[in-house]
Amino acid sequence: MDLILLGAPGAGKGTQAKFLEERSGLMHISSGDLFRAALRQGTELGMLAKSYMDRGELVPDEVVIQMIIERISQSDCAKGVIFDGFPRTREQARALGEELQHHDRKIDYVLYLSVPDGVLLRRIAGRQTCKTCGTTYNIYYFPSKRADVCDGCNGKLYQRSDDSMETARHRLDVYFNQTRPLIQFYQEHGNLIEVDGQREISLVTELMLSSIGMNGSNGQKPH
Ligand code: AP5
Ligand code: MG
Repeated sequence: MDLILLGAPGAGKGTQAKFLEERSGLMHISSGDLFRAALRQGTELGMLAKSYMDRGELVPDEVVIQMIIERISQSDCAKGVIFDGFPRTREQARALGEELQHHDRKIDYVLYLSVPDGVLLRRIAGRQTCKTCGTTYNIYYFPSKRADVCDGCNGKLYQRSDDSMETARHRLDVYFNQTRPLIQFYQEHGNLIEVDGQREISLVTELMLSSIGMNGSNGQKPH
């Protein structure tokens, strides 16, 4: 099964993808995380992506598409993928559909996390992420027990450099102009499911799992 998590910056895509991955056994692929990893490794791709990310702009389609196609061709993606932050433009959506078709796969569901615009900035501005395990916290909603330290692994928490108010505002504008049209695109393809992303985190996970027919503690889809 292949899923897309669609939603604005701060909607909770990364937070939910982590739980869905644990419950479904599908591989979580985040385009933003892949760029941040490339940057940490000091690769050319990382440096190129940074120049766009720092401004809150989208990395060019051809760069993102190539990176994702390479990633999903690896064997750990064979059972299915949870796409987080990709696709973000119609061109990316078309390219993903074509690539999956070559492997006799298709996007089974697009889970659209809807969150009111006013809530998004506060979520982004308050986010802290663990450097070691990637768990996200929020200084307003879910602070870690000890300041700047991950509850789970004691890793150091950091704030993403593109989470400043100014860049976050621009990322939201870019989302409204370039990514939000994908809601209609996937509605027309008949596989978009809207999920209320303002509910409590664990409830959002359950809503998502039940909307794709994966209920119960093992998260397996019943046949
Ligand atoms: P990316 O890393 O994808 O960032 P984004 O889309 O801006 O989304 P975020 O990661 O900010 O939000 P999220 O929905 O994952 O929210 P989260 O779960 O963390 O992309 C970064 C950049 O990379 C882009 O700007 C672009 O430059 C480039 N890029 C990436 N992909 C690209 C592509 N395909 N094409 C071109 N360029 C690309 O949650 C946010 C906060 O809210 C957290 O603190 C969390 O704890 C809290 N929270 C989550 N759920 C809840 C809840 N239910 N209630 C209360 N708080 C909650
Ligand atoms: Mg994210």
